Amino acid sequence: MRDIIMKKKFKRIFLIVADSFGIGEAPDASLFGDEGSNTLRSVSGSKCFSAPTLSRLGIFNVDGVDFGNKEKYPSGLYGKAMELSKGKDTVTGHWEMSGIISSKPMPTYPDGFPSSLLDRITEKTGIGWLCNKVYSGTEVIKDYGEEHIRTGKVIVYTSADSVFQVAAHESVLSVEKLYEYCEKAREILSGEHAVGRVIARPFTGDYPSFVRDAAFRHDFALAPPKDTMLDLLAAGGFDTPCVGKIYDIFAGRGVTEKFKSKNNADGMEITSRIAKSDFTGLCFVNLVDFDSSYGHRNDVDGYASAISEFDKWLDRFLSHEISEDDLVIVTADHGCDPATESTDHSREFVPVLAYAKGMRSANLGVLKGFSCIGKTVLDNFGVENDLPGESFLPCIDRYIQSDLVAQSVEARKTAYAPYSGFRVGAALLTDDGKVYRGCNIESASYSPTCCAERTAVFKAVSEGEKSFRAIAITGGKDSPVRCAPCGVCRQVLSEHCGGQLDVIWFDGEKYVTSKLGELLPEAFVL
Ligand code: THU
Repeated sequence: MRDIIMKKKFKRIFLIVADSFGIGEAPDASLFGDEGSNTLRSVSGSKCFSAPTLSRLGIFNVDGVDFGNKEKYPSGLYGKAMELSKGKDTVTGHWEMSGIISSKPMPTYPDGFPSSLLDRITEKTGIGWLCNKVYSGTEVIKDYGEEHIRTGKVIVYTSADSVFQVAAHESVLSVEKLYEYCEKAREILSGEHAVGRVIARPFTGDYPSFVRDAAFRHDFALAPPKDTMLDLLAAGGFDTPCVGKIYDIFAGRGVTEKFKSKNNADGMEITSRIAKSDFTGLCFVNLVDFDSSYGHRNDVDGYASAISEFDKWLDRFLSHEISEDDLVIVTADHGCDPATESTDHSREFVPVLAYAKGMRSANLGVLKGFSCIGKTVLDNFGVENDLPGESFLPCIDRYIQSDLVAQSVEARKTAYAPYSGFRVGAALLTDDGKVYRGCNIESASYSPTCCAERTAVFKAVSEGEKSFRAIAITGGKDSPVRCAPCGVCRQVLSEHCGGQLDVIWFDGEKYVTSKLGELLPEAFVL
């Protein structure tokens, strides 16, 4: 019997924000006119929805989720977080995750910006303005594009969000000149008019087929009012590669490397590439399509398909691309229920799903404030901070799967298999970190032969052990070959260890982990 290393801390954390993927109305939803909003419920009802990976992580097991299939053996930590800030926009949500609770919502302009404010911008830039209304970005260039080209005045518009958006045709104002205009506007938009973002929206083409030049959209965000998780990590010497609009959301503060993305698929691919590189710290990712392409456009099926794509990628990412030193957190910044009449964000709880290899699943319940995420990240890296909220790192309990596999390889050395020549080793991990090894022991009269798994179980049970977490199995004649536990062993394991047991077995190419309950869903019981 040996001990196994149990670890809490991680070398890398991947924090992935599925933009607007809310999980049900927040307690204060009525203050925002969002009673009944539930992005997950609306999206999961679509025929285009397929999310086995999120489901395995426990998204439908979260408190208050009364739809979808609850996972019998979830594999991660699952919970939901409640926003404390007084806003429901992207910046506020991401800032709160990173430790800033905003006591005032960012200003919005449902009736347009005061013209005195716009005139000050004209004074400073020498460029006039048009429109100044709440508008859809594609419609606004259709309706004002020609006048803009004729007059040289930029198209200023806003949305339900705290944004000052500026559209200009690239033949009228070069992208560089548009950015300069936005920088000057950003300086003026401070104090009571400190909008979350000034957004440059260059476009090209001819009327009526103007097209937005997405690659050159640029956000000029308000800088966070104090140090965030990112500032503290960067100051502590950690890497903080950021994907998508994270750089803009934090006005670049505390971002050691930025990766812009064109869309969700690109953002996911970049994240996979970052996972292949060696870094120590936080990879902070925003996948924006859920919100911008589907949530705001009330496109339920589009949203559902985007989640299905994300889910497929997440499966690959978790099973093949992360290492044992990685923690992955999936969350959102607010809701945007595509099935409600409103095209605006919705005040919702956000999911908090966390996964690492060898992790024990647990319900995190309701977390007060998104900043529990930043707190957890800093706690992991040992960075002192005065962020509000509580770290959920203490809820993480994991063992190192490769250690357990190594012990099964070791156990195989004592296999007694003169008849079959097939040597098997097993390493069984108890709940409190002890490992019992077993090997197969054959008999000249064949049938009394005992498999490696059962040897390990019988050794442990005979020593009084009652709760188990995992078993690793290695078998083969010479080098290891595919070796899943036999039916008899599954029955015995089920009786002593239960369906939640991790079974780590070699599939011919690599070790994979299955829940015993999946390998034997209907065990015999007396
Ligand atoms: N064996 C195991 O030890 N575990 C299994 O799950 C399947 C089979 C052993 C029994 C026997 O000694 C040899 O492999 C060939 O069947």
